[in-house]
This record gives sequence, structure tokens and C-alpha cells, in this order.
Amino acid sequence: RSFVLLLALVVAFVASRPSERQNLHGAQVLRVVPRVDTQLHYLQGLHKLNQYDFWSEPKAIGHPVDIMATAFQLPSLRMVMDHLNIKYQVMIPNVAKLVREDYQARAKAPKAMDWTSYHDYDEITAWLDELATNNPGLCKVSDVGTSYEGRTMKVLTLGTGAADNPGIFIDGGIHAREWISPATVTYIINELVNGASSTYSDLLAGVNFHFMPVINPDGYAYTFSNERLWRKTRSPQGACTGVDPNRNWDFHWNEGGASNNPCADTYCGPNAFSEIEMQVVRDQINTLPNLVSYISFHSYSQLWMYPWGWTSDLPEDWQELDSLAQDAVNALTAVHGTSYEIGSSTNTIYLASGGSDDWAKGAGNVKFSYTVELRDTGAFGFLLPAGQIIPTGEETFQGVLVVGNFVLSYT
Ligand code: ARG
Ligand code: ZN
Repeated sequence: RSFVLLLALVVAFVASRPSERQNLHGAQVLRVVPRVDTQLHYLQGLHKLNQYDFWSEPKAIGHPVDIMATAFQLPSLRMVMDHLNIKYQVMIPNVAKLVREDYQARAKAPKAMDWTSYHDYDEITAWLDELATNNPGLCKVSDVGTSYEGRTMKVLTLGTGAADNPGIFIDGGIHAREWISPATVTYIINELVNGASSTYSDLLAGVNFHFMPVINPDGYAYTFSNERLWRKTRSPQGACTGVDPNRNWDFHWNEGGASNNPCADTYCGPNAFSEIEMQVVRDQINTLPNLVSYISFHSYSQLWMYPWGWTSDLPEDWQELDSLAQDAVNALTAVHGTSYEIGSSTNTIYLASGGSDDWAKGAGNVKFSYTVELRDTGAFGFLLPAGQIIPTGEETFQGVLVVGNFVLSYT
């Protein structure tokens, strides 16, 4: 039995060369559910070995773990699972087909902004500029920095009142492959700007919204040009590329749930804030007066989470964060019946230090700090079809409105 495991690991290791990981022909996503300690620990060990692309991480007994394996890796992964007696289910039988469909849909998609297809970095930023030009009293766009590869980073601010009105900072696209995140952030912007304007005039007179739809521009661009499932930034890190931007923030940085391996998808970086893009976002959060809420959009899993992510302890005001999250999720669920879980990120997903949400609360003094994992629960995972952008936007917008109206009356 141990010989079989060893063999499987060797095969998996050979198959884990970067060039192999990019070859998605025949790749599948398997869902496994650890039922006993030994299975959980084995999966955690397997995750650390950095051979497979874990779409979700092993956290606890009973929690599903989604693992992508290439055609070459699949037999050895199945062999390991069989020998550990872990049941698995094929979640996505044909990853390559979904990726191909994403790219084909993109090729046919209009260049102008809409929400029936996904849009690349340049299309999104051009649209932000256009909004500001067309709505001078309401929107302002500022260039706030430059990514590692030289892309201009912009903040769009919405509000008709005082500059020191209570504010909400919303970002998306910190993880490159989570395409529904920027699409949802732009959906929210569009509703506030072009929706029934009188409906939101009180809100926008009393609250300033600051949006950065794609805070990892280079990674996001790379998912359109090269590798659909890229997660990290694109800065060179020795033999490998990129840092996990959501492990790079200087609040309990590298204190667990992050990797020191530059080739790993959760690499925390050589030091906190090694990534220029995260410095840019940090400086924005520090510059803006009176921020009351921070929301960072990710996918997938349908979770509305609050700090902490670096410890299973809860912030002392967790009940306030929890109750606002409940209200937001109730409004979200009322739209299409989509169910969400709520909790601290360590307790709902897994321990992971160096996240932007923890920094916003712990160092940036933004009280109502959230990370939201959008649709779905794994049927498509990161490859959520564009047809789900509008329903995801509709429901998420209602959740954000609850936070907005709460901030409006919060003193
Ligand atoms: N899926 C997100 C990530 O891995 C969750 C982050 C939750 N927040 C945290 N501080 N751990 O980055
Ligand atoms: Zn993410």
C-alpha cells in the first residue's frame, strides 16, 4: 500500500511541472470529502506538496475539497483516493471544454461594456473613464498607481456629498481567475450610476463608494491572454512567477495558511506588501477618510465572511459584523434564492493570514470588513458561465445596498 502511494506521488510530481499544469486537455475537478483525521491530514499534506491545483483547500472533516488534476495526474490522484478510502465525485468532467467556451464567448463578445460577457482589464478601465466623463457630478476616476507590468490602476468614486462622508471601499479581481468578481463589481457600479437614479440619490448624497474592480491587473490580463486559471500576480519570484495578493498584507503576515514556496498558489511573497498592486490599494484605503466598510469580492463558495482569517478568534465586535452580514445575505437570497453561509473566514473557509480583509480591519481601521465568495458552490467553480453574471450581479447588488444603507445611518 505504501508502495502504491509512493508511486502515485512520484507520478504526480513528474506531472506537476508547470508546462503540464497548463495543459488542461483531459483535466477534471474532483470533489473529495475527508471523513476521518487520517484522510484530512493526508489531503493537507498533498496540498502542501503543491502538485495539484486545489480549487478549495482541506479545512476540516466533512468539508468538501475540490482538486483539479490534469489528464496525466488523474490516474495517480484516483489511486491515492482509493487507497485512502476517500470517496470522490467528479465535479467538472471537462475543464478544457469550459475554458474553451470562455475564450470562444470572449472572442464573440462586444468590446463595449455589458454584463452578458466577461470583459478584460482594458475594457473595464476604459468604461470607468467613460462613466466619469458622462456623469461629472456623480463619478470621479483617479489614477492611483501602476501595476508591475505597467497597467494603470484606477479608483472610481461615487457620491454627491461631502468628501468626508462615511465611505465604503469595494474591490474585486484580487485573484485573477475569479472572473465573476470584477463582473459583479462593475455590475454594482452600473446599477448605482445608471439604475433608477432617484432611488439611490439619498444614499449617494450621504455615502461615498470607492471602487477598484480589478486590483490584480496583470494576473487578470494573463487569464485572458495565456492561462485561464492563473491566480496570483505576475512579478518574477525566482524560478516561478507571482505572489498570492491575498496573502501579502501586513497584518499577521505569514502566520499560517500561506506558503513560503514561490511556486505555490498561496505564496505570501518575500515580504509583506512585496506586491506593488497591494501597496497601491493599501495607500488608497489609508488615504480615504472615514471608511466604514470594506468589501472584497472573490469566488467561489457563496460565503459572506468577516475577520479574522489569521486566527480562529473573533474580533470583539464580531456580533455587529455578523448581524450586518445576516441582513445583507437575507436581501441577497431574496432575489434568486441563492444560499450563503456567514461567519469569520477562519471558521467558515480556512485559516489564511495576510488577507486584505484582516488588514482593512486590523490596520486600516475599517470596522465592517468583509470578504465575499460569490457563486457558485462548485458546479462551475472559477469557470462560471457568463450567463450567470446578471443574476449574480442582481442578488449581490441587493446585499451591497443593505451595507450602503446601514453605513448611511451609521454614526
Ligand atoms: N478564498 C479567499 C482566499 O483564499 C478567502 C480569504 C478570506 N480572508 C482571509 N483573511 N483569510 O484568499
Ligand atoms: Zn479568491
